Amino acid sequence: PQTHPYISTGLKKNKFGIDTKTALEGYKSAKSLKNIKIIGIDCHIGSQITQVQPFKDALKSLVSLISELKKIGIQIKYLDMGGGLGIKYDDESPPQLNEYAKAIVESLKDTDLQLILEPGRVIVGNAGILITRALFRKSTGAKKFIIVDAGMNDLLRPTLYDAFHAIWPVVKSGDEFVKADIVGPICESSDFLAADRQVPDVKNGDLIAVMSAGAYGFAMSSNYCSRLRVAEVMVKDDRFHVVTQRQGYEDLVRGESAPSFLKD
Ligand SMILES: Cc1ncc(COP(=O)(O)O)c(C=O)c1O
Repeated sequence: PQTHPYISTGLKKNKFGIDTKTALEGYKSAKSLKNIKIIGIDCHIGSQITQVQPFKDALKSLVSLISELKKIGIQIKYLDMGGGLGIKYDDESPPQLNEYAKAIVESLKDTDLQLILEPGRVIVGNAGILITRALFRKSTGAKKFIIVDAGMNDLLRPTLYDAFHAIWPVVKSGDEFVKADIVGPICESSDFLAADRQVPDVKNGDLIAVMSAGAYGFAMSSNYCSRLRVAEVMVKDDRFHVVTQRQGYEDLVRGESAPSFLKD
């Protein structure tokens, strides 16, 4: 419940999963099927969770379900605890990994379950940045805009979740700050990377880093407006490698063909 509605998964109003009572019925039904071997239980309560307590609550409920199952002869060996641990985008203070680990170990201390974890964002979220170039500046009187060459097709999170990504010039050229919307070149008013943001002033042509773009960045990117997907570059100390090539226009039409009935 403390996460953004679009990335919560464990509520009754979400499409995901089944409640504990239905799960129990599901296991009973699976037990009667000769080609099904029951080995585990899976849980994913949401994403960008910045407290440990929701994990503890979920584990408590799972441990109780597992013991119910044991009573009816269903032995659970694997417990998959989904993803969900949050990262710092702005002023969040997510738990340290050892606090998270401690909470899990503590909750499972009376079991001999084999634990599976699926953290995604916490591994890669803050490892990636999106580099974009300031193209043009515009003022409408009511607002200032810095138009950059990356858009919602490259990083959808601000548009989709109103998500915050820190923005900083790659090379800070002065001490001036400006309050502006950082917007992309796409034909949507929702095409923004930051809104009403106080940022170090940049000149046309300056490079800007959009932080914390390593999770749900490239993976959510699209070719909307016939925009080409960006290159992904891995950097280690003073070395780099292009791990994903920048797309070319041939990539946009690959696999397309005209139907013969249009040629008649
Ligand atoms: C089943 C499952 N596991 C793991 C993850 C990764 O979650 P996160 O990005 O919160 O680490 C997701 C993301 O939604 C998921 O659906």
